[in-house]
Amino acid sequence: MADKVYIFDTTLRDGEQAPGFSMTAEEKVKMAHQLARLGVDVIEAGFAAASKGDFEAVRRISEEIKGPVICSLARAMEKDIELAAEALRPAERGRIHTFIATSEIHMRYKLRKTPEEVLETAKRAVSFARRFTDDVEFSCEDATRSEREFLYKVIEEAIKAGATVINIPDTVGYAIPEEFGQLIEDIMNNVPNIDKVILSVHCHDDLGLAVANSLTAVSKGARQVECTINGIGERAGNAALEEIVMALKVRRDFFGDLYTEINTREIYKTSRLLCMITGSFVQRNKAIVGDNAFAHESGIHQHGVLSHRLTYEIMDPKEVGFPERRMVLGKHSGRHALKKKLDEYGISYTKEDLDRVFEKLKDLADKKKEIYDEDIDALIYQEFMKVEIQEPIVVEHFQVQTGDNMLPTATVRISFRGEEKTATETGNGPVDATIKAIQKALGVNTRLLDYSIKALTPNTDAQAEARVVLSLDGVEASGRGVDTDIIKASVKAYVDALNRAILRKEYILQRSEIRKEGTV
Ligand code: KIV
Ligand code: ZN
Repeated sequence: MADKVYIFDTTLRDGEQAPGFSMTAEEKVKMAHQLARLGVDVIEAGFAAASKGDFEAVRRISEEIKGPVICSLARAMEKDIELAAEALRPAERGRIHTFIATSEIHMRYKLRKTPEEVLETAKRAVSFARRFTDDVEFSCEDATRSEREFLYKVIEEAIKAGATVINIPDTVGYAIPEEFGQLIEDIMNNVPNIDKVILSVHCHDDLGLAVANSLTAVSKGARQVECTINGIGERAGNAALEEIVMALKVRRDFFGDLYTEINTREIYKTSRLLCMITGSFVQRNKAIVGDNAFAHESGIHQHGVLSHRLTYEIMDPKEVGFPERRMVLGKHSGRHALKKKLDEYGISYTKEDLDRVFEKLKDLADKKKEIYDEDIDALIYQEFMKVEIQEPIVVEHFQVQTGDNMLPTATVRISFRGEEKTATETGNGPVDATIKAIQKALGVNTRLLDYSIKALTPNTDAQAEARVVLSLDGVEASGRGVDTDIIKASVKAYVDALNRAILRKEYILQRSEIRKEGTV
């Protein structure tokens, strides 16, 4: 059996489907470029039939990204498969990923189909997809709760119909590693011609076992893992790409010759880019990419690591591109660091671009004494990578009065799709007052689900990175803002989230049309 484990990244499909992580087509394209630099084998770029936005994202990624296979999800329906094929047409190598549920509960209550009908639908979908490409993946949704003999039969027929990859999803994150490993072993032993296809797994993290389940499956013969950056995805998320890849790399003594072709030095940068694009944070103690992943607080640990790195570190932070939090001193080194970073990100720029952004870096240096790597990252994102969405709301001006013996009061002037609005409000703090004033001006009511703020770098003059998660009429979105002023950072994050929620609401309205016609 071959030793390569294919990495199928579904950040832009399953990841993006989760509340608070939606991306525009343009943002997905930016992310896809970074996924290609990371070296993933397959990019699931979206679900072409879901909406115009998804179709556009799959088509643009197919046009622009060279190297990885580009994939679109499609229900086992001709219309979905045709749209996936159409969106994938410009791709160097395109894959159609079609699926149907095979568990009793999904077939009876969701699909309202008999097992015989599901079997027929699966066969037809795979052979229809093969008309457009010779790379067809078939998934048995909710495989881990499916009746075994029926599951074997569906897989066998999908292979006969032309599937080249068979994917076993643990759709609801129900499996336990030993049991999931056994399922993979049983499929390998009971399904005719299973050795002619790549066996893939797709695990959700509802019990916190997605990575463990995926790794067990790999040790039993699966050779493709479906995963996402930072483990984002429906509900508790999908298996985290960085954890799978580093476990296989660090524990070669256990996994033998299994390997991936991921350029691990791009992992941290990819994780940060996703956070910047979606306005999300990863928790500090997140494996591989969290702020504390390589921090040694206790004296004993510090002493151990200083005398011999391997006493408490099982991998070198450099291997995953973890930054050393370097301080970038002086104007010359600042300009050099800026150029180096732009080259690392593969961003093309003119001398004028460099001069313009360097001026901004100098302005920032006037506000805070020390400039760090993270400050340059934030600036590059703002100036070169942030996708200019048609932001419905623009804050033109705001002013806040606060102090220990007064009621915080904020006045805002904003424009909503070009129409100017002003309002004044009080609140229990300056951020609260400003948010209330924005809501009053717009006549909307949002529910703040999460708000956090952290310093990007040390010292009190550091830039603050604020994150807001809010709900607008039940639609959740997150936003991010960076500034040396914490109120400005918070307002930027709030308005970013609100803009995304408004756009997402419009997008969901489109998607609901398709949901009416079938099941996803
Ligand atoms: O979780 C799941 O079952 C899926 C399939 C569509 C592969 O995302
Ligand atoms: Zn999934």
